[in-house]
Amino acid sequence: MQFTSIDALREAIRDAMVQCRIGTLELFEGIDEVTFRRQAHSEFSPVGWHLGHIAFTEAYWILQRCAGLKPIFSEYHQLFAADGLPKKEREKLPPLSEIYHYLDTVRTQVFTYLKTAPLDQQERLWRWLLQHESQHSETIGFVLQLQRWHLRERHQERWVGSHTFPSPVEPPAGMIEIPAGEFEMGNESIEAMDNERPRHRVYLDAYQIDCYPVTCGEYRGFIEAGGYQSDRFWSAAGWKWLQDNPVAQPLYWSDNPLWDNHPVCGVSWYEAEAYAKFVGKRLPTEAEWEKAASWDAAIGHSRTYPWGDVQPSDRLCNHSNTVGQTTPVNAHPAGQSVYGCYDMLGNVWEWTVSWFDDYEGFTSYPYRGYSQAYFDGKHRVLKGGSWATPPWAMRSSFRNWYYPGVRQILAGFRCACSSEGVHSSLVKTPND
Ligand code: AVJ
Ligand code: FE
Repeated sequence: MQFTSIDALREAIRDAMVQCRIGTLELFEGIDEVTFRRQAHSEFSPVGWHLGHIAFTEAYWILQRCAGLKPIFSEYHQLFAADGLPKKEREKLPPLSEIYHYLDTVRTQVFTYLKTAPLDQQERLWRWLLQHESQHSETIGFVLQLQRWHLRERHQERWVGSHTFPSPVEPPAGMIEIPAGEFEMGNESIEAMDNERPRHRVYLDAYQIDCYPVTCGEYRGFIEAGGYQSDRFWSAAGWKWLQDNPVAQPLYWSDNPLWDNHPVCGVSWYEAEAYAKFVGKRLPTEAEWEKAASWDAAIGHSRTYPWGDVQPSDRLCNHSNTVGQTTPVNAHPAGQSVYGCYDMLGNVWEWTVSWFDDYEGFTSYPYRGYSQAYFDGKHRVLKGGSWATPPWAMRSSFRNWYYPGVRQILAGFRCACSSEGVHSSLVKTPND
């Protein structure tokens, strides 16, 4: 019996790896060598580098560390290791066809090893790898969008997208009241990353959280009210960021009213903070976000996904680059959380006010540099996944982290406020 169940697990992991790889490679269909190797932005590596890094990581952890094989393609080690070369030196890539060959060779050996691998001891690592590729696949997705975006700007074209969506209801408004009490935060299941562990109980006072992410229609109010021109909505750090990065709208912005029902996408944490102040609210803490997304008070447990425990699908959320852009915030009613929040997973990542930090009892896995190196009080937590996130890296406990000034990622936000003292927070003057 034990043998058949481990065999089923082997099959499930193999299937997921095949599916994930199909998604990664689809992103490269029809790509030219220039786009493949160009660094679109100083914060991010060329998309071709990510592809090589996916192969390198798989070879390192499975073939070297688990199977004990000698390094293959060792000439690629320095180029594709995470700590090998500075990002700006990652444009000198082998041709696309060679990287495909690298990926393929590694994958064939990995699947040969998988046939007899002691999965009872290794399941966590294989699941980590699947999420590692998923995260790089998402990065490839938004770096490609960024390149297309720059091209479009140069041609002064307007972003209207390949899909248009009807806006079935009025632009959203309204907040959801979350009662005071404890909930279960984090995740200890086999796929949980090191930073999600251990699961722990957190008490929160009553608060309110937006039913939907902030939409472009709503955000236009901030732009038109001179939000980018007046320091009264910005923290000192935010205003400094704005002076250093003089922008006047989100990165992925369009004035077309067709987009009014879509979430804002391409804002830094500082812009999110300023908008929240403008509407008399604030950003949620990570705990507030996670409770609203996952807590089922009736049974006293957190759900894996807002809608329950079934894996993400197109009906439940906008993910995996299937649409290739944002969708209206009310397009996935089946994906609501128990509390009735929409779009908690997929569509856009959501900034929270929380610094990326460890939970008590944290242990690094599979290496210190995955999470621990970023517990530095300089990265803010994002939750929920975007339209480019593959399903393996999407769940309510999943934590993403970036510097607050980054706006090339697919990030939006929703606002919150404390139930007590809503009025006093409206009149409070900025003090930071
Ligand atoms: C969690 C998305 C910030 O891509 O920099 C990938 C994830 N870590 N390989 C990143 C990661 C190692 C990480 N982010
Ligand atoms: Fe990586």
